[in-house]
Amino acid sequence: MNADIKKVAVIGAGTMGAGIAGLAATKGCDVILLDLDAAAPVAAIERLQAGKRPVITAEHAARITPGSIDADLAKLADSDWICEAIVEDLQIKRDLFERLEKIRSDGSILTTNTSGIPLRDIYAGMPERLQQDIAVTHFFNPVHIMKLVELVPGTQTSDTVMQRLNTFLAADLEKGVVNAKDTVNFIGNRIGCFWMLAGLHKAADAGISMETVDALMAKPIGLPPTGLYGLIDLIGLDVMDLVAKNLAANLPASDPGLAFASLPATEAAMHAKGQLGRKTGGGFYKMTRTDDGGKFMETFDLKQTDWRPMEPATLAEAHQAIETMLFSDDAEGRFAWDLMSATLSYSSALIPEISDDIVNVDRAMKWGFNWAQGPFELLDSIGPVQFAEKVAATGGTVDGMLKVLTDNGHSSFYRNNGTEFLTLDGNYAKVAS
Ligand code: NAI
Repeated sequence: MNADIKKVAVIGAGTMGAGIAGLAATKGCDVILLDLDAAAPVAAIERLQAGKRPVITAEHAARITPGSIDADLAKLADSDWICEAIVEDLQIKRDLFERLEKIRSDGSILTTNTSGIPLRDIYAGMPERLQQDIAVTHFFNPVHIMKLVELVPGTQTSDTVMQRLNTFLAADLEKGVVNAKDTVNFIGNRIGCFWMLAGLHKAADAGISMETVDALMAKPIGLPPTGLYGLIDLIGLDVMDLVAKNLAANLPASDPGLAFASLPATEAAMHAKGQLGRKTGGGFYKMTRTDDGGKFMETFDLKQTDWRPMEPATLAEAHQAIETMLFSDDAEGRFAWDLMSATLSYSSALIPEISDDIVNVDRAMKWGFNWAQGPFELLDSIGPVQFAEKVAATGGTVDGMLKVLTDNGHSSFYRNNGTEFLTLDGNYAKVAS
């Protein structure tokens, strides 16, 4: 192992905690996994070994010691890294960190896996030692598959702690570490959730079918084959509703994402009646098994608010690549421009608020959302100058990194085969591995 972190404690044995504990065990760490009562970690360890593709072997499982928070917290006295992955609730997390601070050793590191609570709210008023030793490690689900971990320091977190975490996550856990800031939803979910929620709102009036929306927002752009609606079916409208509410409460006042920080009316009605997605047997799409063992796919028509047979979309040639799709003057092209220009302009404007550079943003979208290219790589494929011209011609504002690019007379965000990237000051710097 490369880092000095060998003894790991994970608190919370739900989806994320179990995944993090399993990952650490497969990489050779000794792991203590705690939850409210010991039954949850025991069940989690069993779950990790079950199914067609087990996440861990029996040998890995033997490295994970299950326990309960009340009975076993003292065992964390010699842990090197204590990772909190309990329920997303500020007060519950704060109470746990207060207890952890009393039992942990000097030199141990604390992290939270929160997806939306500001780190500064978690450590506010806590002892100085805790404030120097705490960070966010935001893993993506499923932990053993998704490459991304967003690493976020607090204002007092020491450089040593950040370096130790960086080395451990990258070299030992073999994750792709992205340096993010203590801003709402960090990088991946800030841009990814904007794309999803803006997508629902913009698609509602686009005059094209759900199947066409999903076909456009997949392979031609290098996004996963689920497209827009298929992805939200996987995540669930209940989760999207919570995400939207968190954004509404925490986005800065002038943020363009505020316009989309709620479910559109039809999706809100689906949410209200429990039509959430795959977890409830159907959301935007529904699969029924036929008597002969085949599949029958249906689409929920958002205008008729009723099911109809799915009709796979066939895309015209102009819609099969982003650089032609965004400039084609038809309903498909107008929708694609509307959503992708908003998402890419948003990404451009969010530097330096959410990240100091474009590389971390591109990596977050590739490693956390399985985009083949990040926003700035996509802009390079489209042609950033042509993109900026169309933004200006259609009444939009060219700002952030796009403005840096055009003001300095550059024509791409990356150069020299992607080994150099455009920085905020208008120069190019080497991409770190
Ligand atoms: P989960 O619901 O699967 O697990 C949460 C665990 O917390 C449960 O095992 C539960 O027993 C425990 N718990 C509940 N109340 C508690 C309390 N009062 N004290 C201590 N433990 C308590 O949740 P999940 O999805 O694993 O999320 C955990 C954290 O990770 C949350 O902060 C969530 O926002 C974050 N997260 C979730 C992701 C996801 O895709 N599910 C992705 C990234 C972060």
